[in-house]
Amino acid sequence: MEVLIHPTKHAACTLGARWIARLLRQKPDAVLGLATGSTPVLLYQELIRLHREEGLDFRKVTTFNLDEYLGLAPEHPASYHHFMQENFFQHVNIPRENTHIPDGLSTDVPATCQAYEDKIRQAGGIDLQILGIGGDGHIGFNEPSSSLSSRTRIKTLTERTRQDNAPFFANPADIPQHVLTMGVGTIMETREVLLLAFGPGKAAPIAATVEGPVTAFVPASILQFHPKATLLLDEEAAGLLQRAEYYRWVDAHKPTWQRV
Ligand code: PGA
Repeated sequence: MEVLIHPTKHAACTLGARWIARLLRQKPDAVLGLATGSTPVLLYQELIRLHREEGLDFRKVTTFNLDEYLGLAPEHPASYHHFMQENFFQHVNIPRENTHIPDGLSTDVPATCQAYEDKIRQAGGIDLQILGIGGDGHIGFNEPSSSLSSRTRIKTLTERTRQDNAPFFANPADIPQHVLTMGVGTIMETREVLLLAFGPGKAAPIAATVEGPVTAFVPASILQFHPKATLLLDEEAAGLLQRAEYYRWVDAHKPTWQRV
């Protein structure tokens, strides 16, 4: 695991965008795994800027989002379909048919989830997965106790996650109980992971993820087994790391050829 601590989330997102831009220069038809929530918004803004000002090209890119609320139509303002259109897709030149998000209106959940897994495989697998992290250590919507080898499936949100996401809903009663999410095993098959975490609310799950034991109780901790996982943190999210000084030292002494 590589832990990169930045003074601000702006700095972390600028690096994250450069990271993705480097991949797209090397592989214009890369497959990206995308995340929603408040964390990646600045990253998408920086990618949009690179598209507009530096010609970053998404024409051949394919994307798969991590998750979607079950029961929300794509046009629902709190759906992740809507989020992705508003925050990213409509601002870059990615063909609509290249973007994939689990179907929140599925009437056959097991078949929908299997088809999603099949599409990821047919696309050649995910080259780079963007992740946030929940206050409880979840990735995607894989809540604590999720199987560490799980695949795309239905999950039931914890009350804490529902409350965390309440600001996106006009009426708290409308927050769905159920979601479709890529599994932990699906995420572990991606070739590279960039996990973003900002603010003091993420300090405890980040410390547990990086320095705690691998446990289904903190699903993100499985990333200790991922061959190429990088954490882009601000100072606050890094606030409880015992080895923060070492991670900073490692970053400062990286060989030039390893830098983005
Ligand atoms: P957030 O959510 O970006 O809104 O903090 C992260 C997550 O739940 O994965």
